[in-house]
Amino acid sequence: LPTTYAADPVRIAVIGGTGIESLTHEGFTPVAALTISTPWGAPSSPINILKTPSGVPIAFLSRHGVHHELNPTEVPGRANIAALRSIGVRTILAFSAVGSLQAGIRPRDFVLPDQIIDRTKGIRPSTFFEDGIVGHVGFADPFDAGLSKVIAKVAAEQAQGAKLHVGGTVICMEGPTFSTRAESAMYRSWGGSVINMSVLPEAKLAREAEIAYAMVCMSTDYDCWKTDEPPVDVATVVANMRSNGENAKHLMSAVLNELAREEHEDLVEAKHLEGSSKWANCTK
Ligand code: ADE
Repeated sequence: LPTTYAADPVRIAVIGGTGIESLTHEGFTPVAALTISTPWGAPSSPINILKTPSGVPIAFLSRHGVHHELNPTEVPGRANIAALRSIGVRTILAFSAVGSLQAGIRPRDFVLPDQIIDRTKGIRPSTFFEDGIVGHVGFADPFDAGLSKVIAKVAAEQAQGAKLHVGGTVICMEGPTFSTRAESAMYRSWGGSVINMSVLPEAKLAREAEIAYAMVCMSTDYDCWKTDEPPVDVATVVANMRSNGENAKHLMSAVLNELAREEHEDLVEAKHLEGSSKWANCTK
């Protein structure tokens, strides 16, 4: 594949998590594989450019690397977001495996969260605003409402596929060790819906970069709060991601095809976010 792509700006990106290390969909044509370097280093993986069936270019990045060699703490969040932004990306559809903190969110269900609780340990570089640039962007609603609406609508129209729960709170923990039972019970008491190790700092950095961002969470387990189930292990996470791969692909294709429609141009170009970081910057 060519290592450059200069035809048009690429506005839409998919970030794949555990179990979605590549984007090989029927009807999507690979056109380039970009190796990009940024002031924050190299992204997790080459950025693959593919064309949707209607000819719209989209970018794909594998969060944990091509061979899943980066643990959540090691994911180069700033390089990932900067690399995508540098090729023109203004909308990110992210995927992540999550544990469920609610009985009604069953393994293999999907969740489209609208809130986040940060339980990372402050050891991940999580801002572009430092070293002489001081900025504070708003993050009250951490996911893009317009993008979330499109995802919810597309999922509701699908005749087959996984159930999508719209709304909820994702707890982002540091890991890589899973939670204790006491922690899992505490997150439930906080109103947590699902738990992962990946939504932060990705969502914060996307907001700083004025990129519309939403995450489709794919439930793989009941973490360890549910006493009538064995506690989460990697084999269960991977097995459920595998068996749900088709559903993920199905939803992803449908959302990408929908976003590629002209009526979503302003959303996809994140016109509503334009200048938001500039005006959040205190540096004179
Ligand atoms: N990813 C998938 N399942 C998880 C869990 N139970 N806790 C944290 N991250 C997860």
